[in-house]
Amino acid sequence: MPKKIRVGIAGARGQSIIQGLLSEPDVELAAVCDIDEDTMNRIGDTYNIPNRYRIFEDMAMSDKVDAIHIATPMETHVPYALCALEFGKHVMCEVTGGSTMDELFWLCEKVEETGLIYMYAENYCYTPEVQLVKSMVDKGMFGKPYYGVGMYLHNCSDLSTYAHNGVTSWRKYWQFGKRGNFYPTHSLGPVMTWFEGEHVTEISCFAPKGCHNDLGLRQDDGTTTMCYTDKGNVIQIRVDCTSNRPHQMTYYQLQGDKGMYQAGTGLGSGSPAVAIRTGEDPHGDQHWRPLFDFKDYLPDRYKFASDDQKNAGHGGGDFFLVHDFIQAIRDNKQPYYDVYKAAEWTAVGLLSDLSVTNGSRAIEVPHFRPKMPREEMFTKI
Ligand SMILES: NC(=O)c1ccc[n+]([C@@H]2O[C@H](COP(=O)([O-])OP(=O)(O)OC[C@H]3O[C@@H](n4cnc5c(N)ncnc54)[C@H](O)[C@@H]3O)[C@@H](O)[C@H]2O)c1
Repeated sequence: MPKKIRVGIAGARGQSIIQGLLSEPDVELAAVCDIDEDTMNRIGDTYNIPNRYRIFEDMAMSDKVDAIHIATPMETHVPYALCALEFGKHVMCEVTGGSTMDELFWLCEKVEETGLIYMYAENYCYTPEVQLVKSMVDKGMFGKPYYGVGMYLHNCSDLSTYAHNGVTSWRKYWQFGKRGNFYPTHSLGPVMTWFEGEHVTEISCFAPKGCHNDLGLRQDDGTTTMCYTDKGNVIQIRVDCTSNRPHQMTYYQLQGDKGMYQAGTGLGSGSPAVAIRTGEDPHGDQHWRPLFDFKDYLPDRYKFASDDQKNAGHGGGDFFLVHDFIQAIRDNKQPYYDVYKAAEWTAVGLLSDLSVTNGSRAIEVPHFRPKMPREEMFTKI
């Protein structure tokens, strides 16, 4: 029996992975950290967690954990990841990967220097729909993909204040206080999962001019960021967290030369659909079919997920996210959603701020990769 991997969670949202951790036989939920003592004790008591910390560094330094899930506010992600890695702990980190370009370079360097596992917890990549489409892309069912769309439309500006006490939250500055696409990876991550092996090399960001609400936030009322990949393909990502409209956080499209996929749209024929050629239907690219007509192409682990795994959330997605992190630690091999994907996808958002504040000019995205030369670690404008 291998030694159990002892995991600590930081921040209340860390609870989103608890069900996944509990479904892993060789994992111990060993510690919780939250600066708010009541929250720390509430989570600790609910899940019977023995070690509790208010100060992140105390958990990172402790010999009671092997790995840490960072789910504290965005601006703490890189400082805490660097600290955890420094003290020999594997890291899984919530979105986004970091708050400045420098942070992203430091993070890649620190993961390489320590050889510890870093996993990017981009849970939207793990939904059954995204994984089913990936499997169909891999089998060539859409032909060669050349255009992708990802949208995160979530009117959530009320989160700039905590509802329970009226105190200003970190989101007012680190999300709604930014220009451009401050939250890119829920939209970009799934689409890049379908453009396997490609990298975003250049972006331009566009936003409606002027302000269309009385919220008093710096954030644009909706941005569209156009991305070129190194293969010349185009990905359009849109984020809008202030406009008056219903939520639609998982809207995607994929166009290939033999057909396309479109996510559910919320009304009428609003379920996920594909238009593809098949043996029986050579003109299938001209009309819609439900995506789940092709559910046999789901990866086996989704097809045969146990009830426990499905209960972890997002149709088993949250379980497989945790499982891949734990497996990476066991195998001592970086996961698919690694530090370079975290850095590239996060950089698209950070650079979109620079683009939209400079007349939507095109900005090069650095090629984050192992042993990236120092002279490439800068932003070219
Ligand atoms: N993947 C997703 O779908 C998803 C959804 C929501 C939030 N998130 C991410 O999760 C993170 C947290 O978001 P949230 O909505 O839970 O925020 P929140 O402000 O509601 O909660 C943050 C928690 O962290 C604690 N905390 C704050 N600063 C701390 C510190 N320095 N040390 C220890 N604990 C600290 C707070 O007491 C609170 O319990 C963010 O990075 C956000 O982007 C991801």
